[in-house]
Amino acid sequence: MTDVLPQSNEEYGTKEYWDKRYAQEAADANFDWFKKYEDVADLIREVVPDKAARILMLGCGNSTLSEDMYDDGYKNIVNIDARSSFSDIFINLTLPQYSPVVVEQMRNRHQNNRPEMSWHEMDIRALTFRDSTFDVAIDKGTMDAMMTAKGDVWGSGGIQFTDGMPQDPPQQVIDDCTKEVDEVLRWVMVAASVLLREHYPYGCARVCSVLRKGTGIFLYLTFGQPHFRRRFLTRDGTSLEIKRIGEAFHYYFYIIRT
Ligand SMILES: C[S@@+](CC[C@H](N)C(=O)[O-])C[C@H]1O[C@@H](n2cnc3c(N)ncnc32)[C@H](O)[C@@H]1O
Repeated sequence: MTDVLPQSNEEYGTKEYWDKRYAQEAADANFDWFKKYEDVADLIREVVPDKAARILMLGCGNSTLSEDMYDDGYKNIVNIDARSSFSDIFINLTLPQYSPVVVEQMRNRHQNNRPEMSWHEMDIRALTFRDSTFDVAIDKGTMDAMMTAKGDVWGSGGIQFTDGMPQDPPQQVIDDCTKEVDEVLRWVMVAASVLLREHYPYGCARVCSVLRKGTGIFLYLTFGQPHFRRRFLTRDGTSLEIKRIGEAFHYYFYIIRT
């Protein structure tokens, strides 16, 4: 574990760090950020009573959350983890393409015993699923990884303080987190292709979201407190419920309903 700790918090926000980390770990290694399924199972069963719900796991890593949910009956899970978005590659050709280390490891590990679950390389900031594909999207610690910025200690989501007053997080943090939530939640006007969508957001417009309108649920588990996270999770036409869990150290379950 020590070997895979980053030199600085900022590395948590890079593809290179995660790729190196997963490549260094044993193929059967797993690590769960914050909480395991058993810690949050009652809450998930309450919020998602339908075991047949189609679930999108955002930034699955090598967490056991998906397999534990599968074994509890939620078999319809699509797992995604990092990949350079097309525009990242296009705009900055010097960026090394993110390799599918963890996705391949997880697919190999589970394809025989848990065949109904699938694994894909995909950037959570540029989802390529059809509209209304999912009932539920789950993020456990993934948005937090994108929030790491210079001097930040995770929980504040890149927000620095000057004379005790919170300053805005860096623009990159705001952009990344907004993109993830937009992709999952918002009924936005988007273009037909990923490239067009990112550069000409109002060309070839159509209305879409990967969550089903009216019944979709976005679950986000983090230790980020509401005053640091609410700004990213509030959207017109959706409701936000926040549950605090844990005893001495608190975690937060943000439940956004479409
Ligand atoms: C803090 S880990 C959380 C892993 C897992 N969700 C858990 O609960 O243990 C963050 C994960 O998000 C992935 N990730 C970071 N940025 C991503 C992005 N833009 N698109 C897809 N996955 C991303 C990383 O590769 C890493 O596996």
